[in-house]
Amino acid sequence: MKKFYITTPIYYVNAEPHIGSSYTTIVGDILARYKRMLGYEVFYLTGTDEHGQKIAQAAREKGVEPQVLCDELAQKFKDLWKDLNITNDYFIRTTDENHMRTVQYFVSRMLENGDVYKGTYEGWYCVPCETYWNEDELEHDEHGHNLCPSCKREVQVIKEENYFFRLSKYTEPLLKHFQDNPDFVEPDFRKNEMLKILESGLKDLSITRTTLKWGIPMPKDPEHVIYVWVDALINYISAIGYPDNMDNFNKWWPADVHLIGKEINRFHSLIWPAMLMSVGLPLPKKVFAHGWLTVNGQKISKSLGNAIDPREYVKKYGNDVVRYYLVRDIVFGKDGDFSEENLIKRLNSDLANDYGNLLHRTLAMIVKHFESVIPGISSLEEIDKNLIDEYEKTKEEYISLMDSYKITDALDRLWQFIGYLNKYFDETRPWVLAKEGNKERLGTVLSLVVESTLKVATLVSPVMPDSSKEVYSRLGINNDFSEIYLTGWEHLKGRKILHGEPLFKKFEKVKEEKSMEKEQIKGQAETKAENVVTMGELIDIDYFKKVDLRVAKILEAEKVEKSEKLVKLQIDLGELGRRQIVAGIAQFYKPEELVGRLIIVVANLKPAKLMGIESNGMLLAAKKNDKLKLLTVSDEIEPGAKIS
Ligand code: MSP
Repeated sequence: MKKFYITTPIYYVNAEPHIGSSYTTIVGDILARYKRMLGYEVFYLTGTDEHGQKIAQAAREKGVEPQVLCDELAQKFKDLWKDLNITNDYFIRTTDENHMRTVQYFVSRMLENGDVYKGTYEGWYCVPCETYWNEDELEHDEHGHNLCPSCKREVQVIKEENYFFRLSKYTEPLLKHFQDNPDFVEPDFRKNEMLKILESGLKDLSITRTTLKWGIPMPKDPEHVIYVWVDALINYISAIGYPDNMDNFNKWWPADVHLIGKEINRFHSLIWPAMLMSVGLPLPKKVFAHGWLTVNGQKISKSLGNAIDPREYVKKYGNDVVRYYLVRDIVFGKDGDFSEENLIKRLNSDLANDYGNLLHRTLAMIVKHFESVIPGISSLEEIDKNLIDEYEKTKEEYISLMDSYKITDALDRLWQFIGYLNKYFDETRPWVLAKEGNKERLGTVLSLVVESTLKVATLVSPVMPDSSKEVYSRLGINNDFSEIYLTGWEHLKGRKILHGEPLFKKFEKVKEEKSMEKEQIKGQAETKAENVVTMGELIDIDYFKKVDLRVAKILEAEKVEKSEKLVKLQIDLGELGRRQIVAGIAQFYKPEELVGRLIIVVANLKPAKLMGIESNGMLLAAKKNDKLKLLTVSDEIEPGAKIS
């Protein structure tokens, strides 16, 4: 069976998890789910890093024992991953008994191999990063303070008798490994940073501390505790049973990828491989160092108060939307800014408009013309064959991009296909086929669109598992996501579909809700400043064509409670399905006078909420002084008819 072992960094438990730490864990989850969907057996590891000065200090400040702090925070990480629907296969804690034993065993082997010696360390240390720095690496502020080049906080001097790891000995072997394995560290520009360090030569590394108690004791010299980074890196092999359960270890090691943030690349791409070389174990296949998230342009930090809990966003927009946004809008590998405004844009356009609306329109027609049963594909025309070809190309490229960790590009490619599908729908004009009674052709077109949607839902399931599950169940499939749905075009024939609500709800800001209400009541079509046409100005036909005017039949009407003006209407828009709209006509019409009327509606207006009730369109009315009259058609015509 194909296997895939993927890890995240293990997170320090000095502070609560935030959107930044969740970012790596979500991306790891996307990759793990992606491989599972393709039939791989996956081991996805995450956990917490619980030793060291940083944790000891945080516990002291809180007035609790370090272990108490660790237990409390490790639980918070576990809870968050559960809430975010993370599918990690194991959660390692560095205070776990078996991990601590493995660390001691590993360091003993480094000692036996002659790679560890005693010496004195005198130099600089950054507690927040738990990192030793050379004098020439430090930065300085305007007061002449010595600052850590990574986190820009003040470093401290330490002088201790330590054990050292002969890291310098591994400069050449590491250079060779980088040369022989050009994809060992990605992206490329991160690899180059590592090569630069290697080319200037590595210095031996202090791997124990005596001024600290909160750590794993050095074998045979318990006055020393093992440096927290040495302890932490070993988690990647202790979690899979090294050295007690070598069968399991050999099954998973070497890891396929260590997913990390860019600031800890040195530890993963230089120190960890050298440690593994020292004990004679194979190196991980890849280290992928992603960029950093900022929030509204600022670094995420407790002191800035922007360390937001991702749950807030998940509650407001849904898990899938947050996941999609994080990997689609923020280019994976680069730094990026988490912006709620951009998240809403992605939700409204990519998800609600392009993806959700296509499914909604198609399912509405299957309900109406095929009694909710997917008819299946009969003979293929040129346009259908082109669609199938386009899908095959998309699938191949999507898989190749995902396999090379270009998640953003992969999604971009998939959305190009969704755009193609929308165009296919418009060009094949299923509503005309329905009107002409051409059932066979209509069935083929609708079936091709739903079969394609099943494939899209499968491909995107690692990123948006909840909505993909929903698509599966709407299409009558109760199985897990599987690559079997990526080939063949006869998965859905004869299945009963469920129309349901739109897959994604557009999000409109409250400010806009109020102004939308005013505009609707005034009966104006223009909703945006750039669309406003001044009196007397002439418009061209294309401008007018943007407005999708349709005949609709009012099926139900009901006054909105606590509102003098608003009426809630259920309308039939023919092939566009049933909709709810809210209109400001209560002072002019009684609800019972409205039912059965044929009215004119703007069908492609952005949804809005009026007094908390969703409105998906706007009816047209003529208003002068105190009079208001609904626009209607003089003769009987089918709902959904276009007005031009
Ligand atoms: N404990 C070490 C890692 C040991 S791994 C053997 C550590 N922990 S940490 O809590 O500081 O987490 C660092 C990781 O969290 C980063 O490498 C990155 O994966 C993730 N992130 C934390 N903040 C982040 C952002 N603002 N943006 C993106 N990722 C971030 O270092």
